[in-house]
Amino acid sequence: MFGKLLQHSFRIFILSAKSQARSSARVRRYGKMSKPTIYLTRKLNSAAMKRLEEQCVVELWEGPDPVPRETLLSNIANKKGLCCLLTDRIDQEVLDAGTDLKVISTMSVGFDHLDLPAIRAKNIRIGYTPGVLKDATAELTMCLILATGRRLMEASKEAATGGWSSWSPFWMCGMGLLGKTVGVVGAGAVGSEVMRRVKPFRPKDLLYVNRTPRPDLEEELGAKQVELDELLATSDYVVACTSLNSDTQEMFNEEAFSKMKKTAIFVNSARGGVVDQDALIKALENETIGAAGLDVTTPEPLPLSSPLFKMKNCVILPHIGSATYTTRYAMAMLAVENLICGLKGEEMPEELKAK
Ligand code: DGY
Repeated sequence: MFGKLLQHSFRIFILSAKSQARSSARVRRYGKMSKPTIYLTRKLNSAAMKRLEEQCVVELWEGPDPVPRETLLSNIANKKGLCCLLTDRIDQEVLDAGTDLKVISTMSVGFDHLDLPAIRAKNIRIGYTPGVLKDATAELTMCLILATGRRLMEASKEAATGGWSSWSPFWMCGMGLLGKTVGVVGAGAVGSEVMRRVKPFRPKDLLYVNRTPRPDLEEELGAKQVELDELLATSDYVVACTSLNSDTQEMFNEEAFSKMKKTAIFVNSARGGVVDQDALIKALENETIGAAGLDVTTPEPLPLSSPLFKMKNCVILPHIGSATYTTRYAMAMLAVENLICGLKGEEMPEELKAK
């Protein structure tokens, strides 16, 4: 009798533990309550999680997709810190819900998803992750330049679907980099690294547009600063590496595409928002420009119905510029350190200061 009772209580215990585990599968608490409580919008690698849990009580969204808006809004209350991604829009509504927020740390170099004036009005410190992703992003930009110029995706598809009948003198010819003019818009960390990687391919000219001159790049690479119109008119490759802000929003529009060479290859590894995408679609359809290679689009993910997916002269990647393990681990660790230092009132490794 006693044995049966014990068995029964044990079953109830297991069932309730299971149901608890199910209900907390998406949102879990970590660490001890004496530490500052923070909200993390995506689980990070184990080293970054360990570091975070040493210093903070961590509540997090464990789903594979971005945290749903309502979940973020209801979980941000009473949190001192927020560690977020570029997929999380941090605006007035989030700030109103997160009345205790002291630090926001984004695991990204881009910060167009953050409402800076609203965040600054609340004296919330902001951390971000510049520097650590410039090499990976420049490398991926090179992949796009070469894949689009040499028609890699198109050629690979032909090979796999029976279009490869024989070696043929002019079949699948594209544009290389040798002797071509490459124009980089935005000579910041990523743009400079792109130029450094283009140089060994022996282009004719390396042009750049930037708010400030870069005498270092001019000396090191022979790069030349020009006005945007000149870059658009003379470049065989126009490469967008500029951050998204009110000055650069849709700067690649109908007018800009009409100024480019008919054979120009447009590459964007910055943000979809720097392009008027409808104008780009038209420019590709009407052969105003030759081809485009995009790692970023509007919106993301790009709907499968987008005409861009149907175009042979358009290579689309799913925003993977910084996607090497080493880089993403470094970004995660930097985001965590920014958050921890910010919460302690210390200097952050990378704080986004008001300009
Ligand atoms: C960033 O960090 O802003 C990049 O776009 C991620 O690849």
